[in-house]
Amino acid sequence: MNKSTASLAVLGAALAVCTQFAHAAPDWSKVPKRDIHVFFPGVTPIEWLMNKSEHSGRSGLNKGESCAGCHEEKGALSLDLKRLAGKELEPVGAPKTMSFPVGVQAAYDKENLYVRLTFKSPSDAAAKADKEDKAPMHEVKAAIMLAGPKVAQASQVGCWATCHNDVRSMPGADPKKKKYVANASVADGNYYDYFQWKSGEGGNGATQVDGHVAGERVNKGGQALVKAEGENKGGVYTVTFTRKLSGGEGDLALAEGQVIPFGVAIHADKTVHRFHHVSLGYTLGLGAAADIKASK
Ligand code: HEC
Repeated sequence: MNKSTASLAVLGAALAVCTQFAHAAPDWSKVPKRDIHVFFPGVTPIEWLMNKSEHSGRSGLNKGESCAGCHEEKGALSLDLKRLAGKELEPVGAPKTMSFPVGVQAAYDKENLYVRLTFKSPSDAAAKADKEDKAPMHEVKAAIMLAGPKVAQASQVGCWATCHNDVRSMPGADPKKKKYVANASVADGNYYDYFQWKSGEGGNGATQVDGHVAGERVNKGGQALVKAEGENKGGVYTVTFTRKLSGGEGDLALAEGQVIPFGVAIHADKTVHRFHHVSLGYTLGLGAAADIKASK
């Protein structure tokens, strides 16, 4: 062995040690990415979806069909976005960009789940949409909600079990009422776990929230979220969550082989409350077949 191959061998051994012991984020270039399209939902809470005269999908939901089953075709959304931007379903104001793709990747190891979101965040929200008015102003927020095992129709309805017509920023609703799950119970698993990254003013900040949505939205208590990191490169955001498989209050305990229903929500252009872009419901599998299969 000459000198340079010997040093290469040493380097190789050092690298092998590093990859073995470091619980660092995975090599994202090797993790499959799937585009999930988020859209601006207007005023379409679960009560609207379950009203037969408003939404003909209701009978399908009662028969066990999922939102994505009816509203996604070959990876693209099949929704009437013009209708969602119209006065009937959006009395305040819709953004110009009604839908955009979010690249979703996931991986896990013995300790953590890693989720990475990549998206170009639009900045054309309606002037009248609720925007953040107090410091710090967040340009963009990205959240993932994981449905607990006892949420009714969790694998069908995505985050809609938390979205009600009497929640703040819905027309005529109490401005203090936060999103909630009906008959929620954290102990029984009828709630959503969620984590969120907030960009700060310039878009490169790193405020994180580890909360849950049960009888109401609680922005604290979670101990699973190790870190939420994000960067803004010319409007393209890359947000990475590192979440322990289990944690504290409101943190779902995750394990290999599990399939968890989840949804994604992006608040673009400083919007708050219901003025977000959301995904339909998808599933995340920890080494198990799912819409997004987290690789080990
Ligand atoms: C069985 C099929 C079916 C299922 C399941 C279903 N929908 Fe629909 N949905 C429809 C149809 C058909 C329309 C269009 C006309 C109407 O409202 O009846 C519609 C309309 C909508 C609209 C208004 C925009 C448009 O395209 O008209 C939204 C928003 C929507 N659905 C969201 C959802 C969500 C969220 C879920 C899951 C909680 C869901 N739907 C489940 C069939 C379905």
